[in-house]
Amino acid sequence: MRPKIFVAREIFPEVVERLAVHFEVQSNQADDILSKAQLIDALRGKQGAFTTGGDRIDAEVLAACPDLKICANMAVGYNNFDLPAMTARGVLATNTPDVLTETTADFGFALMMATARRMSESEHFLRAGKWTKWSFDMFAGSDIHGATLGILGMGRIGQGIARRGALGFGMNVIYHNRSRLDAATEAQCKARYVSKEELLRSSDHLVLVLPYSPSAHHAIGAAELAMMKPTATLVNIARGGIVDDAALAQALAQKRIAAAGLDVFEGEPSVHPDLLTVPNVVLTPHIASASVPTRLAMANLAADNLIQFFSTGKALTPLNPEVLGG
Ligand code: GLV
Repeated sequence: MRPKIFVAREIFPEVVERLAVHFEVQSNQADDILSKAQLIDALRGKQGAFTTGGDRIDAEVLAACPDLKICANMAVGYNNFDLPAMTARGVLATNTPDVLTETTADFGFALMMATARRMSESEHFLRAGKWTKWSFDMFAGSDIHGATLGILGMGRIGQGIARRGALGFGMNVIYHNRSRLDAATEAQCKARYVSKEELLRSSDHLVLVLPYSPSAHHAIGAAELAMMKPTATLVNIARGGIVDDAALAQALAQKRIAAAGLDVFEGEPSVHPDLLTVPNVVLTPHIASASVPTRLAMANLAADNLIQFFSTGKALTPLNPEVLGG
């Protein structure tokens, strides 16, 4: 009998077709947003799940779905998984690293540039019919080239942004990370390790790329924003909750920092109402990995993890390989 899997959100039809060659597939191609009870209902009796970052797999879901053996996340981040609970129940978790690194680094860089050069704010001004004359300081922002780029969280995506800044734009790159990179990687990225405080105080443009964990909650709050230069910009392509959005909205309104670019939000898809009213912020709906080829590669990698697991007992990108044993 073929294993039964549930695909929790709408994905590329060709990927559902690939899965259907190997599995009995129930898929949410209607793209309904499922409550926890509905998710449990759908997962009961399934051995595998294809999930996205919004599908929470926690102890309650696992207890209610004892047949589940693997959850393949179509995202590199996996804070929607209670990984210790999955490991305790012997449920394999997988994610989609690497295939999205360069696309996401492109977007982080683009968001930084749009923020520094005030692209959203000036477009709104133009669309509102307010552009009636030239003026010397109209939407004058800050430079990217030659500026100090700070990166908090120096994994694969952070390194991609560092390379773009150092090699493409002559930026002076500094970073802070839980652990310092080896000398060869630092040299490749032309990045210098600094304390978090120095990163906050010295960056002209600070980009957040660290994974979410309870210890990273509000890693950037009022105190950290107060340490930044008043001319600095802040970009968050990491996860909602890493920035205290209320404190950021206040800092932007008071021009404590110059501007922010945000792709992720606390409680998304809700956005803090004060962020919607301050002008000096570029807002995008969590699309950093959203190029068509990359989203397809992510979906195929999640599918490959399911296919590999049920055919060989292994997976391509396991997060808790200890559940696989030997
Ligand atoms: C996107 O946020 C991802 O984690 O892939």
